[in-house]
Amino acid sequence: MKILFVCLGNICRSPLAEAIAKEYAKQNNYDIEVDSCGTGSWHIGEAPCLDSQKIAKIKGLDISNYKARQVQKEDFKKFDLIVGLDSKNIASLKSLGCKNPLLIGDFGYEGEDVPDPYFFDGFEGFDKVFEMIETCVKNLIKEKVEK
Ligand code: 4NP
Repeated sequence: MKILFVCLGNICRSPLAEAIAKEYAKQNNYDIEVDSCGTGSWHIGEAPCLDSQKIAKIKGLDISNYKARQVQKEDFKKFDLIVGLDSKNIASLKSLGCKNPLLIGDFGYEGEDVPDPYFFDGFEGFDKVFEMIETCVKNLIKEKVEK
């Protein structure tokens, strides 16, 4: 099973989803491949934002060597599950030809969007973003992989 998490910039939210999924798969011996990307091109090649790196580190995850990339049409063939972090990401994915993207918030947060933390005022709020992503990623894997 190959899972791709998609946000806007691939520097705040989807790197956290990628790291959480990889750690959860490792802990449970699941044979899944996980990646993340953004619908936008602004941050290609950049490391995750410092506040995402910080919350990841607090939670025991290291995302400092991740590099942002933009979604490609080939991703829609390669990955079994394409998971958007908010409804705008889902709309962008659909307009690019992705047939059935999943909304991460449908796996534990009643379809809520994971808030875009790029414009947060400092670190506050990143813990909530992490918690939302962690809950939903684990539920998604439970539903799609464990069965
Ligand atoms: P992300 O956050 O989608 O969670 O990586 C953002 C990063 C950059 C921008 C927006 C959101 N931006 O407008 O550059």
